[in-house]
Amino acid sequence: MNVYDSVRMRDALIVHGFKETTKPGQADVILVNTCHIREKASEKLFSELGRLAQEKKKGALIVVAGCVVQADGVEILRRSKLIDIAIGPQNYHQLPELIEKYNRKQGRIIKADFPVESKFDFLPLPKQSTAAAFLAVQEGCDHFCSYCVVPYTRGCEYSRSSKDIIAEAKALVKAGAKEIMLLGQNVNGWHGDRGKDLGDLIREIAKILGLKRIRYTTSYPSEMTQNLINAHKDTAKLMPYIHLPIQSGSDKVLKDMNRQYTVKQYEKIVAAFRKARPDIAISSDFIVGFPGETEKDFEETLKLVKRVGYASSYSFKFSARPGTPASLMKNQIPEEIKTKRLMKLQALLLKQQKEFNQKTIGKVFDVLLTERGKVRGQLLGYSPYMQGTIVKAPTKMLGEIVRVKVTGASATSLTAEVVKK
Ligand code: 5AD
Ligand code: SF4
Repeated sequence: MNVYDSVRMRDALIVHGFKETTKPGQADVILVNTCHIREKASEKLFSELGRLAQEKKKGALIVVAGCVVQADGVEILRRSKLIDIAIGPQNYHQLPELIEKYNRKQGRIIKADFPVESKFDFLPLPKQSTAAAFLAVQEGCDHFCSYCVVPYTRGCEYSRSSKDIIAEAKALVKAGAKEIMLLGQNVNGWHGDRGKDLGDLIREIAKILGLKRIRYTTSYPSEMTQNLINAHKDTAKLMPYIHLPIQSGSDKVLKDMNRQYTVKQYEKIVAAFRKARPDIAISSDFIVGFPGETEKDFEETLKLVKRVGYASSYSFKFSARPGTPASLMKNQIPEEIKTKRLMKLQALLLKQQKEFNQKTIGKVFDVLLTERGKVRGQLLGYSPYMQGTIVKAPTKMLGEIVRVKVTGASATSLTAEVVKK
């Protein structure tokens, strides 16, 4: 979501006469986007600012955007004198005006309210795009998991209308996008058109000529509809991959997390996905060391992982975020136990990921080549199952979808050769 937000802020500034540079030394304005989800992510802002101190001396204006501003705007301005403008996630459409208005002598600016208007109605349509593009269809979250800052930083759930979304999708495709990842903190809670769900939206987007692949993330298990699951069966452009975070394999921990499903219900949803699309790759997020998590609860998570079999996953140590109920819970777990559990879980997840990758050796499928590889003559892309794939191919094929045969697999990537379609 932050990559998407950065792109939209860039595009808004381009309309106002700015040009993009990736070299901070050349910039008049430096934009630092931030994440508040875990403490580690939040702290990155200050190490980044430290690196930018030189540029500031040369006169660059420093703008900090994102959820850290929403949560802690006044505090970060106090902590770092380098920041000129701080802007929250719902105010991005106001950024060009704030930069134009900015006058150092009049003092620094903070803009982090929840305006009545939606930023989406004011941001310009994209004129440039990467081959794999992001598109936010929904933002914010009403779930209030007890550990999570998102409902406070991004606000309550807001869904864009399909008309608005399709206009943006068409503009992205016109600008070169072949794949679109639909984004939302609770993406399958999308309700932008009365009586329609994300499955219907995906079928509409799939009609766009020139668009080859559709993905979506992140889904909330108990809001999954059979209609969306069916889209994996009837919509060829929808990729066989679902990110479905469970967070923990213990019903007791799920309850304390205020996740509104049980392990059994989650596994039923997984089974429904596999019935609709037997080859579907499933991934999840996990939190270890949630307050009160016993060794037995943690074992339940390991057992769940073994039963489901994940293609890839993200796992984190519980991070006590200010203002969340879980940060005040008794029975906080000591750091060394969290570390131990995380290592154990990650070893298992990595083993499963390796097995999943190895199972694709010899398979033939399409890869969208999105980046140059480290080695000359190699390009990187993603398989339908979201596996990073290294392909021997000339640079001119960048941005193309090629048919490949998988020749090798490690825990983190595949190697593949181009074959004729
Ligand atoms: N501590 C650890 N992990 C967290 N996540 C969200 N909040 C926290 C927290 N306080 C993780 C969840 C979520 C992912 C985006 O980040 O696993 O799915
Ligand atoms: Fe945070 Fe996701 Fe829970 Fe919403 S559903 S509160 S974004 S973890």
